Amino acid sequence: MDRLKGKSALVFGAGPNIGGTIAWFMAREGAHVLVCDINEAAAKETCEFIRQKGGMADQFTGDATNEAQVKSAVEQLVLLTGRIDIVMNMAGKVHWSSVLDMDIDQWREAVLSFPTAGLLTTQHAARRMIELGIEGSIIHLLSTTAHFGQSEAAAYATAKAGLLNLARSAAMDLAEYGIRVNTVTPCSVEHQLWTRMKSEAESGTFERVKARPQYSRDDYLKSIPLGRFPRASDIAWASVFLASDESSCITGVDIPVDGGLRHKYPTWRPGDISGVNIQDYVRKLRRLEYGEDKGPVFPEGDKP
Ligand SMILES: NC(=O)c1ccc[n+]([C@@H]2O[C@H](COP(=O)([O-])OP(=O)(O)OC[C@H]3O[C@@H](n4cnc5c(N)ncnc54)[C@H](O)[C@@H]3O)[C@@H](O)[C@H]2O)c1
Repeated sequence: MDRLKGKSALVFGAGPNIGGTIAWFMAREGAHVLVCDINEAAAKETCEFIRQKGGMADQFTGDATNEAQVKSAVEQLVLLTGRIDIVMNMAGKVHWSSVLDMDIDQWREAVLSFPTAGLLTTQHAARRMIELGIEGSIIHLLSTTAHFGQSEAAAYATAKAGLLNLARSAAMDLAEYGIRVNTVTPCSVEHQLWTRMKSEAESGTFERVKARPQYSRDDYLKSIPLGRFPRASDIAWASVFLASDESSCITGVDIPVDGGLRHKYPTWRPGDISGVNIQDYVRKLRRLEYGEDKGPVFPEGDKP
């Protein structure tokens, strides 16, 4: 508690799920959060959740790739709180396609969206931080695919790799002002896999993912050294750390939140040794909303 007391935060892409959980964790640590999302209902839901828990939050509907709207989000936070200390950005458009079938309009939309949101949120927040004499913290959310080639994901991988190097370069540009820029990299997050994991565990066949047939969820799980997928709360804790003064000498780095996936020897399959089993995993799954335990994902008797 109070790790972000007195700070003001802007979270872009803050609908319920990862962004909403990050926004709530920041508010719980004492920050006043402006919850920004292109989808009004999504921003409203997160904002209301935080307020109902006693946190300080306001909502803003806007597109993080639109310069005028990003500027107004920054201004709204400064108007509301007199400051801007933290920016958390994860906005962008994902398109899945093989390079063979890539549609050029979808390519342009995906490849431009994440780094453009990255640039605008960094630029406008940093300009205001400098004017106000605030040594703020800016954090961008990546994906494991920012660091590797992934099939059917050329547009997304290019976009997130672009965002990674935008963040590193911004860290160098802004260091003289004491403004820090870092990134967080999750691999596939647990809640997005619930339904598919269940059907695969039930059938016992671990069907290949249609769009990316090179691996199944079972293979994925087996290749994670900690034997579990990250949760939104895991990403939120890393973000709170980077937003807080605890990381005041850290800039230009990326924190992987992936159970060790990215740093293991590629050919090692830890699951084969530890015996991690997707049926057991699915049985133990807990539903987390904004990091709160809401009970089993699949009720008793509904066993894989
Ligand atoms: N879910 C995963 O498994 C996973 C894994 C790795 C990385 N990520 C990254 O985490 C982030 C959040 O993912 P999620 O699963 O919570 O997705 P989500 O779709 O549930 O949430 C994304 C939110 O961003 C908003 N948004 C999209 N474009 C926007 C824009 N231009 N301006 C403002 N808001 C915008 C959406 O309305 C939505 O509320 C994304 O950057 C994603 O690439 C997700």
